[in-house]
Amino acid sequence: MKGIILAAGKGTRLYPASSHISKTLLPIYDKPMIYYPLTTLMSAGIRDIMIIVSKDDRAYFKRLLGDGKQFGISIKYAVQKVQRGIADALLVGEKFIDGDMVALALGDNVFYGEEMYEHLAQAMAESEGATVFCKAVDDPRAFGVAEIDDTGKVLSLEEKPSEPKSNWAVTGLYVYDKNACKYAKTLKPSARGELEITDLNKKYMDQSKLKAQLLETDVVWADTGTFDSLLKASNTIYEIEKTGREIVGCPEEVALQRGFITKRQLSEWVSRFKLNSYYEYLKMIIQEH
Ligand code: G1P
Repeated sequence: MKGIILAAGKGTRLYPASSHISKTLLPIYDKPMIYYPLTTLMSAGIRDIMIIVSKDDRAYFKRLLGDGKQFGISIKYAVQKVQRGIADALLVGEKFIDGDMVALALGDNVFYGEEMYEHLAQAMAESEGATVFCKAVDDPRAFGVAEIDDTGKVLSLEEKPSEPKSNWAVTGLYVYDKNACKYAKTLKPSARGELEITDLNKKYMDQSKLKAQLLETDVVWADTGTFDSLLKASNTIYEIEKTGREIVGCPEEVALQRGFITKRQLSEWVSRFKLNSYYEYLKMIIQEH
């Protein structure tokens, strides 16, 4: 199983805040945005990860995350030269995917909740088809929208419809079988000139091979592409973390829990940093582990 995080977007909706750097390197409360999707993939056991970035940002991502060894994973980087849409990630990453299954995560999507990781692991256990994760929202017009029947079958999918057929937003996390690259190659650019992920998902839907996993109310989901959603996500994370007993989107913690790294390796890593609430927390989990 491979994991891809798409973090190559220009993030124009966040200018000037992201005019100089990828928005996924901006903080959501106490850590860079990219930590959240990275942790989501790691918590489902994925250790082979490619991050798709823009040419200008590559050095910053490398400085932040390196080759992933500190988290007991492998991180590779690929440059998306032209922003051709989310589904293009599967073409950029084709060699890396190498006929395997793949979980594709958008760099600006934050998930939190035990069930989330179980849902992702379950989707990964299916050897055929694709899974999308849907969350009920009040106004789904800014998202892909799925119409789903009582049995969980996806009846229709629309990208940012002005008149949504349901309240189910399709979140930015997708699990695909080995056919994803093949199907992505057959996509035609949309009116906005992009290879739409919704069009790829429709290919699976048309063959009745698209599963929609509905996220329950206690799974937190945030798409953090606008000023308000970015602040809201920071506030949510702050509220969860303020007791000091839990940190959301902490790759070091998942690495230790999953046995990707040892306590000793984590202690050595933590010893490089000045203690603040983040590294104090890591010290605490090392002691409790
Ligand atoms: C993208 C997808 C959309 C999905 C959303 C989730 O939209 O095209 O289907 O619902 O991510 O974050 P974007 O936010 O990139 O415009």
